[in-house]
Amino acid sequence: MHTALESPKGVWWKPAGRAEKIWVGIAFGWCLVLFAMMPLWHLRGGQNVSGIRHRVEPAAFEARTNEFIEQYRIGEDRGIPIVEPPPGSDVYILARMWTWTPILKLRKGAEYTLHLSSRDLNHGFNLYPMNINLQVVPDYDYALRITPDQAGELRIVCNEFCGIGHHTMIGRMIVVDETEGSVTYRGGAR
Ligand code: CUA
Repeated sequence: MHTALESPKGVWWKPAGRAEKIWVGIAFGWCLVLFAMMPLWHLRGGQNVSGIRHRVEPAAFEARTNEFIEQYRIGEDRGIPIVEPPPGSDVYILARMWTWTPILKLRKGAEYTLHLSSRDLNHGFNLYPMNINLQVVPDYDYALRITPDQAGELRIVCNEFCGIGHHTMIGRMIVVDETEGSVTYRGGAR
C-alpha cells in the first residue's frame, strides 16, 4: 500500500524538456511586463489621478462645503448653488443621493485643490468629457490638485449605482477662460 507520506521509489520524475523551459521563461517574462505595467499605467495612463486621502466625518465635510458655498456663491441653478472660488483655493464638491453640490465655476489655467466626499454612500465621480473616474466614499475626503486646461462646461456623471435616482445624478462644472474675466453664467439644459 502506498501512502502520500512516503516518497515513491526510484526516479519517478523527468527533468523539464526544452519546450517547457522556454514556456516557463516566456510566462515569467510576461509576468514581469504585467507587473511593470501597474506603476507605469498609474504614472502614464492619466486616468486615475493621485490624490490625498483623509478621514472626515460626513457631517463635518457637509458643514465645510456649506461654509465654502456661502463664501463664494454667485448664483443658483435649479436649487444647486453656483460658486466661484478664487484661483489657488480649496474647492469642495459634496456627493449625496442624487446631487453634486455645488456647481463650481473655475478659471482655465488656475490650480485648485478639489475635495470630494459623500454624505451617504458610495458614488462615482466621472468628469465628462475628460477621462477621470474616482470613487467618492463617505468618511473620506479625497483631495486632488486640478488645473482645468480647457474652457467650457463639464458634466459630473455618477458612475456607481447609488439607488433609484442614480441615473439623474448629473452635476455641472463651468470652466471660464481667464481672459474673459467677467463672463456671466448663462443657463443651459442639464
Ligand atoms: Cu450617485 Cu449613482
